[in-house]
Amino acid sequence: MEYQLIDGKATASAIKQSIAEEVKTIVAAGGRQPHLAAILVGHDGGSETYVKNKVIACEQCGFKSTLMRYEADVTEEELLACVDKLNKDEDVDGFIVQLPLPKHIDEQKIIMAIDYRKDVDGFHPINVGRMSIGLPCFISATPLGILTLLQHYHIETSGKKCVILGRSNIVGKPMAQLMMQKQYGDATVTVCHSHSKDLKKECQEADIIIAAIGRPDFVTADMVKKGAVVIDVGTTRVPDPTRKSGFRLNGDVKFDEVAPLCSYITPVPGGVGPMTICSLMKNTLAAGKKEYYK
Ligand code: GUN
Repeated sequence: MEYQLIDGKATASAIKQSIAEEVKTIVAAGGRQPHLAAILVGHDGGSETYVKNKVIACEQCGFKSTLMRYEADVTEEELLACVDKLNKDEDVDGFIVQLPLPKHIDEQKIIMAIDYRKDVDGFHPINVGRMSIGLPCFISATPLGILTLLQHYHIETSGKKCVILGRSNIVGKPMAQLMMQKQYGDATVTVCHSHSKDLKKECQEADIIIAAIGRPDFVTADMVKKGAVVIDVGTTRVPDPTRKSGFRLNGDVKFDEVAPLCSYITPVPGGVGPMTICSLMKNTLAAGKKEYYK
């Protein structure tokens, strides 16, 4: 059976283009450009790349962007002061604090300090809670990007058996919430994690597998049913001396052996990654338009 590759890069590019057109219309009518700010702490290679790509995406969408940088030894007080400043800055529509933060900083405390009306990452408990009961809110970018991809490719999710691998606050938990809700996935959802007993059997029964555990090549052919849809959220950097950078991004799915079994599958890179950033742009546009909160 011939599988179809889900092209996240092309889908994200088309969506960013339509956002850019809407921004043009807003500005032509005398409105403001949406403005996203990002706080980046330290010099983690992955975080540097993500934030750089977010700034580039802002340019592509016609948004204003501001990058606030701190060294890894920044204090919690300094970060809280920065969050407070961005909360009060009327020119900033939304902002993110790139995670993970250094160990001496209480991540949850920083997230809670963000004004939920500017929380375009959808990490604040108010947005998480509203999402889980189906109220309008900012939805976490990776799960939103995956939902958008499934819709874009007209992949039926209603009534399907969806297995999610991973239970993180950023991906696994919100993904499970969205896939189970009637207005989004409307699927039967199982969440598996490091202590799940029959993970392999659960996967074998799944119509849709969403892998977000950060373990390279974890999902193998013996775990996947014929005709399944496989979404790979993994982006682990593994050493690769043939690359100029010295590494490559490796997904959670052993692509070469799993793909031939699938009806649809996302590649890494070029699958979920670009959609995550594109969803952040969608949320920023919504923040600029005060779509969810006044
Ligand atoms: N780290 C990994 N994913 C994300 C994300 O979506 N937002 C932020 N702020 N940090 C992340």
